[in-house]
Parts: sequence; C-alpha cells; structure tokens
Amino acid sequence: MMDPSLIKRATLMEIEGVSLNDDTVENWDTLWAFKARPDDILISTYPKAGTTWIQEIVDMIQHRGDSQKCARAPVYQRFPFIDLFLPAPLVSGIDEAGTMPSPRTIKTHLQLKLLPPSFWEQNCKIIYVARNAKDNAVSYFHFHRMNKGMPEPGTWEEFLDNFITGKVAWGSWLDHVCGWWEAKDRHPILYLFYEDMKEDPLREIKKVAKFLGTQLTDSLLNQIVQHTAFESMKGNPMANYSTLPDFIMNHTVSPFMRKGLVGNWKEHFTVAQSERLDDAFAEKLRSSGLTFRTQL
Ligand code: A3P
Repeated sequence: MMDPSLIKRATLMEIEGVSLNDDTVENWDTLWAFKARPDDILISTYPKAGTTWIQEIVDMIQHRGDSQKCARAPVYQRFPFIDLFLPAPLVSGIDEAGTMPSPRTIKTHLQLKLLPPSFWEQNCKIIYVARNAKDNAVSYFHFHRMNKGMPEPGTWEEFLDNFITGKVAWGSWLDHVCGWWEAKDRHPILYLFYEDMKEDPLREIKKVAKFLGTQLTDSLLNQIVQHTAFESMKGNPMANYSTLPDFIMNHTVSPFMRKGLVGNWKEHFTVAQSERLDDAFAEKLRSSGLTFRTQL
C-alpha cells in the first residue's frame, strides 16, 4: 500500500529561468547526466498537449496494432518520464529507464534548452506534439486541480496569469513550442499538432509510422485510429490514469481524459482573457512562423 502522505503539492523552482517542480530541480544533476541510447525514441510535449495520446499511438505502431501488448502496463510505466522524481518507494522515471531494455520510448516535458545533451549526442528520434495555447491552458488548469502532486493552481484567472508569464511547471508554453519548432530542421524531430491529430488522425498516424520506419497495412492503421480515439482511450484503464490512487490523481475533481476537444477554451476564457493571451504571444509566434488553430 502506498502512503498517501508521500504525495505533496509541488512548489516551483527555476533552472536557467525555467520554472520546474521542486522535485525536478532537486534532482537536476541526475537528470542532466541522463544517458540516452541511440535507439531511444523521445516523446516531447508541453504538459497537456496530447502526450498520452501520442504515447498510445507510438506504442500501437511499435506493436503493429496489437492492443493486448499495449495493455501490458499503465501508460506511465510503459514510457519512463525522465523529469518526474517521486519519493521512494515509488520509482522515478530515470530509474525505470535505467532498467528498461532497448528500444525505449521516453517521455519529457523539458524545454529544448534543458534537454539532457545525450539525446543530441545520440541523434535520437524525437516526436513533438504542440497544442494551441488556449486549450492547453484550460487542460493544464484542470490537471492541477486533480493531480495532487502539482502546485496549487489558484483560481482560473490566477492560473491563466501564471501560464501567460511562464510561472507554471515546465515554464513558458510560448518558449516551449517555439524552441522545439526552431530545432526541428536541425535534428530528427517530427513536429505534430494536436489540432491536426483531431482533424485527421489517420493522416497523422501515417506520418508517425513513416518517421519510425514502420510499414503498416491500411487495416492495421485503421485499428490504431480506433484504439487511440478519445472515447476508446477514456475507457482504457491502461491509458486513462485510473489505476493511480485518488490521493495522486482524483478523477472526480476532473477526469484525466477530460474533453479531448479543440475549442473547449471558449467555455473558460472571457473575451478579455482571450485578448490578453493573444497579445502576449502574437509577436513571438509571428516571427517564429508557427501558427495554431484554436477551432476546427
Ligand atoms: P483535455 O483536458 O482538454 O481533455 P497529456 O496527455 O499531455 O497530459 O494531455 C491530456 C489532454 O489530452 C487532455 O485534454 C486529454 O483529454 C487529451 N487527450 C488524451 N487522449 C486523447 C485522445 N485520444 N484524443 C484527443 N484528446 C486526448
């Protein structure tokens, strides 16, 4: 039995000006020294951009559409999350990665400049998923409410202010999406958008399979589309985080698989809040050439 008192809401600290949960900062030297292997696949996202969704897609591609194999363990055990450090006896992602045979698929939310250098040295393939800031912020707010290891979110208004200024765990959404975007032409990075995945999952799954060098029949690709649809994943205990005790994630506060939509932000943002976010992010987005859709 896990001791509920082990789980405490994190506080924020900084590395190179990026806000991170205190457990990550306290273990920074270990994380920075992480040894990637050449056949590692890295899944990188800003939190709540569709990490779990792309993880399930990648696992299904790697197992050629065999959903039984993808049900071997909950998603948080199949993919070591290297920036997450947990109190013993819980196993941190980095320790889990160390004992996992190759090929591994690893998860991170780190900003580009904070990625352990061995991933670049080993030229690992990286899949990045970006999501529009407004839906991403709403999803992150509700995740803070239900995940007892995240910092206190405060009110939606307070949380949104912190999101816009980057005073949330893993730092600024804007720096995150732009940093990885700028790197994508220098490294083997497949840069995907949550909105594109919603619009045409088959098209995006084909891109992932091609990037991973896996050839799949149309029938297998369609099975992967079905298996990774929102409603399927919401009902899949190996994908929906329901196997964690509710003193870690309380799905009655807000389910992990919450809405799975593009445009749900409209139910949370006032007009003034929407304009504030647009004003804060417009210039850097324009100069980066990155565009996001906030509705389909
Ligand atoms: P919402 O809170 O907007 O519903 P992450 O995995 O990065 O933590 O992201 C979680 C977000 O992705 C949640 O968004 C969740 O519902 C959504 N999501 C997870 N699986 C999905 C799927 N198969 N299709 C669409 N959205 C999905």
